[in-house]
Amino acid sequence: MRHTNPRKDRGRSYLAIIAGAVALIAVLIAASFMTVSRASDPRKDTLIVGTSTDFPPFERRFGEEVRGFDMDLCGKIADALGRKMAIRDMAFDALLPSLGRGATDKKPLVDIVCSAVTKTSARDEVADFSSAYFTANQAVLTAKGLGLSYTSPKDLTGLFIVYQEGTTSQEWFEKNVREKIPIKGHASFKEMRLALQRLGKDFDGIILDGPAAQAFAKSNENLVVAGTIQTGEEYGFAVAEGDPQHILPAANEALKKMRESGEYDVL
Ligand code: ARG
Repeated sequence: MRHTNPRKDRGRSYLAIIAGAVALIAVLIAASFMTVSRASDPRKDTLIVGTSTDFPPFERRFGEEVRGFDMDLCGKIADALGRKMAIRDMAFDALLPSLGRGATDKKPLVDIVCSAVTKTSARDEVADFSSAYFTANQAVLTAKGLGLSYTSPKDLTGLFIVYQEGTTSQEWFEKNVREKIPIKGHASFKEMRLALQRLGKDFDGIILDGPAAQAFAKSNENLVVAGTIQTGEEYGFAVAEGDPQHILPAANEALKKMRESGEYDVL
């Protein structure tokens, strides 16, 4: 025989209601998380720009902010894609590897590299490039006190020469100076800021892109450009091999429009 205790029964049904409500809330929370994470997939909303912020006038850090010609252009490219721009700052030689391995890589560290990158055939093997957006030469930056002037590689005789790791400056040095000109020594660096501080003390010249050399000489009265090295390099924005995110058509279109409207010249 079943004994019923009304108070106990009421207690049981309250428990059932509470359990049901808790389960319902849990389901709702889970569902809302699912839609939230689907709606704001950061890979789709944001264009992650890789750059090395040691290279005025193209990219330079001002506290939390990164500014420069490349940042302006890549901002326009992000706009054209309907994506926000986020910046990832790293050593120059880490940039192209951060694009990942094209279509097989679902989570590359960066989506596009905007860092005064010269288009070269070797780099074309590991990344895809936008149309050219700037032409530059190399230069020799030196300390004023050294009285150095440069017209050809032999002017580097007896000097200690440095260049940024993984750049076309390093390539030029290896092809034209290393084991050809009797220099005092050479080294590569990753940190431009440190290299600039040591210039004139620990070494005599930095090989780097002309526009950056000019910018450093302009902002530091102890530095001067000793001369230009004609290399006629073309800069491009780099994306992963095969352009799996279809960034390049928008990038090239944005570049073309900016050129036609005169906005490029203003920047
Ligand atoms: N144009 C040179 C190269 O592609 C140097 C670029 C260095 N850029 C930088 N943000 N540090 O190798």
